[in-house]
Amino acid sequence: MDQQIQIFDTTLRDGEQVPGCKLNTKEKLALALQLEELGVDIIEAGFPISSPGDFESVQAISRVIKKATVCGLTRAVQKDIEVAAQALKYAVRPRIHTGIGTSDFHIKAKFNTTQEAILERAIQAVKWARNFTDDVEFFAEDAGRTDNEYLARIVEAVIAAGASVVNIPDTTGYCLPYQYGEKIAYLMNHVPNMDKAILSCHCHNDLGLATANSISGVINGARQIECTINGLGERAGNTSLEEVVMIIQQHKHLGLYTNIKTQMLNPLSREVSDIMRMPVQPNKAIVGANAFSHSSGIHQDGFLKDAQTYEIINPEQVGAEGSKIVLTARSGRSALAYRFQKLGYEFNRNDIDHLYQAFVKIADSKKEVVESDLRAMAEAHVPENAIA
Ligand code: KIV
Ligand code: ZN
Repeated sequence: MDQQIQIFDTTLRDGEQVPGCKLNTKEKLALALQLEELGVDIIEAGFPISSPGDFESVQAISRVIKKATVCGLTRAVQKDIEVAAQALKYAVRPRIHTGIGTSDFHIKAKFNTTQEAILERAIQAVKWARNFTDDVEFFAEDAGRTDNEYLARIVEAVIAAGASVVNIPDTTGYCLPYQYGEKIAYLMNHVPNMDKAILSCHCHNDLGLATANSISGVINGARQIECTINGLGERAGNTSLEEVVMIIQQHKHLGLYTNIKTQMLNPLSREVSDIMRMPVQPNKAIVGANAFSHSSGIHQDGFLKDAQTYEIINPEQVGAEGSKIVLTARSGRSALAYRFQKLGYEFNRNDIDHLYQAFVKIADSKKEVVESDLRAMAEAHVPENAIA
């Protein structure tokens, strides 16, 4: 039977940390409701101790979200955990997400301490959090660069202390997909109480590998992916929600599924882009403006014969406007004929041959030949049997 991958959305926490993306409570609340509608399993609503505004947002989201789990981030600090618990008081399904850095970089440079002391702090943080909720997630920050043997000891200890989800962040986006996958496989095979919890992938995109690493993680046994709409997040961003969801949907042989309503992906991407004032790159997978545009003659000809020659996803499946045949100097006759037809002009083959000569001259002089250019061409051509 197919296994569910829990989608943990952190647009409102890791995504909102991006300079310029800060949201007020009203905006966060509106987005949280949309995320619930989208079908995410967990909404990371914020970092309650970080500011009174974030506390208020987490509290407001906790009051209205009924189906999804609402999660608050904390450091492995008692006060953080108490404040998060207070902010999550009204949530139907509250989760505390606590943790600490586990790589040598963090242990030595950030905390100036030892592996044993970090292990104790991790256990203590989970115990504090368990005083408030049964749903505790532990993050081993910079797990991507943490030695696997030590990481396995941490994972075993926090599960024994009561964590039901253990997050393995590749905080700096350093891992290669096979390395991240091996890390998850190592934990699955070496942590004796691994059956009492699930592993979560939280990958950053510093080398453009966040999506690939998350998928490698679930192939190797992780059962939760932490991600954001449009891949927003610290520095180069987090794993993009729309990408992992569609990979899982397209590759059914993986035996995995999510509960995401994929038709909402494009509309929600636009909404997040607007509200956070962060444009989406046109060539972004799934939600970019060009994700379903075809501009070269070879591709257009194949696409017009059968869309599946050049499209693996039907745009409707992800709520996109539809496939586009864009006319540039690289376009061919079939695309030109198709676009004329869309405007109501029926030209025969000779007409198209003739019009094509005019078309390439115009196309060479500008980036895209648009509707007004086509109308002008059609009128100037005055074909014998054109019907406008
Ligand atoms: O990237 C990271 O390690 C994080 C943790 C706080 C979960 O965002
Ligand atoms: Zn992160």
